[in-house]
Amino acid sequence: MRVAVIGLGYVGTVTAACLAANGHEVWGVDIDPAKVAEIQAGRSPVAEPGLEDIVAQAVTSGMLHATTSSAEALAGAEISLLCVGTPSATRGAADLSYVQRAVDDIVAALRSCDPSASMSHSVIVRSTVPPGTVENVVLPALASGLDGTAHKVGAGMCPEFLREGSGVADFYAPPLIVVGTSDPMVAAAVTSLFRFLDQPVRIVGVRVAESLKYACNAFHATKVSFANELARLFRLLGVDSREVMSLFCEDRVLNISPSYLRPGYAFGGSCLPKDLRSLLYLARMNGADMPLLVGTLATNELVIHEVVDRVAASDSRKIALLGLSFKADTDDLRESPNVALAERLIGKGFDVQIYDQVVNPACLVGANRRYMESKLPHLQRLLAHDAAQAVKGAEIAIVATSDRAVQEALINDPPQRIIDLTGRLGADLESLPGYEGIGW
Ligand SMILES: NC(=O)c1ccc[n+]([C@@H]2O[C@H](COP(=O)([O-])OP(=O)(O)OC[C@H]3O[C@@H](n4cnc5c(N)ncnc54)[C@H](O)[C@@H]3O)[C@@H](O)[C@H]2O)c1
Repeated sequence: MRVAVIGLGYVGTVTAACLAANGHEVWGVDIDPAKVAEIQAGRSPVAEPGLEDIVAQAVTSGMLHATTSSAEALAGAEISLLCVGTPSATRGAADLSYVQRAVDDIVAALRSCDPSASMSHSVIVRSTVPPGTVENVVLPALASGLDGTAHKVGAGMCPEFLREGSGVADFYAPPLIVVGTSDPMVAAAVTSLFRFLDQPVRIVGVRVAESLKYACNAFHATKVSFANELARLFRLLGVDSREVMSLFCEDRVLNISPSYLRPGYAFGGSCLPKDLRSLLYLARMNGADMPLLVGTLATNELVIHEVVDRVAASDSRKIALLGLSFKADTDDLRESPNVALAERLIGKGFDVQIYDQVVNPACLVGANRRYMESKLPHLQRLLAHDAAQAVKGAEIAIVATSDRAVQEALINDPPQRIIDLTGRLGADLESLPGYEGIGW
């Protein structure tokens, strides 16, 4: 393919050189003449292991060119890859002025092509940009700028996952190839561009692709701070944090795994809140600050708070809370966020009916019955015998379980609103008009 790479920094130079080394004809463009001159001379303008040789060979073979002229780079190009910077502006916002200017340059370049030629062109953002940038910034600029021309132009976002210092290796083995677009032409262009990597190309909504890169970087930053925060405390306790974290990472079931990474409701139960509090107590007693872990308790509280606010903002009074224990298939009610939710709703005067498959008045025996009677007598009175009874007459159902009986009751007698805390209710319920997810 003929490819224009816009911006010849770390991402742009690695991308341009590696694409050129794999059979594409690449034109790199930068507003900085010094970077362009470096590539023209067969040198890399950025230091990355292995890149110097790839640039030199690609320039010598005639597959990699560099220019300061967008018109020259765009002439005949099927695809352009935007690799310009998106630095922090005041108050932390992403400065999109380089993206805007680059899109304007693309428009001007395409307009300067033969106006009678109908040209298909895909504009792919590889810079890290906030969700909505392609839809609100890139596409409108392309549409208004190319209005009245015969060009067929689409846009999408393909997040770049390379890390400086291993940019070339990362380019050849990306963890994912994701393209956010609703335009089949754009999806086909990126799939074709990266075919030589022999990896599946995931086509997703454009905002999903834009958000993904932020999710990845936020997670990586959190991981670093998590390890450092624990190390701060463990060192004071005379514990080798490297040994702890090395063993920690050997757990691929719960720790280094998809576990605990599905958006949903607050954590609770008999272990996580208690042990986190105990760890934070140790930190306080030893003078170690752990703001990240303190923050997890605060954000957990916000999850419950937001559900209460959502319900309180409505005119509804009758609520069905489906699921009471902190997770499905357990009757353990200790520190269940659903109990906290029920108590707050009752405190605000809502008429709450509760159903839980396991915490069921008909089945409660022994210790659990005693726990319910002594600690939660106010909730015991509100327990329905079956899901249908709890749902009957409810205006809002808050669903904290994927119990089959609950799903059937909701389908048979759907309330005006269903607030799903689980994300596991399935397509039938998600397609109901009153369905809303807690975080989606
Ligand atoms: N550096 C990384 O490791 C990395 C990894 C993944 C994603 N990203 C993202 O990729 C984007 C680029 O990052 P980078 O580190 O390569 O940036 P960089 O600052 O090294 O390079 C950006 C280049 O764009 C050029 N430029 C600006 N406006 C231009 C225009 N209108 N036309 C042509 N060139 C223009 C600049 O002169 C500069 O050379 C950022 O959004 C960044 O967040 C970076």
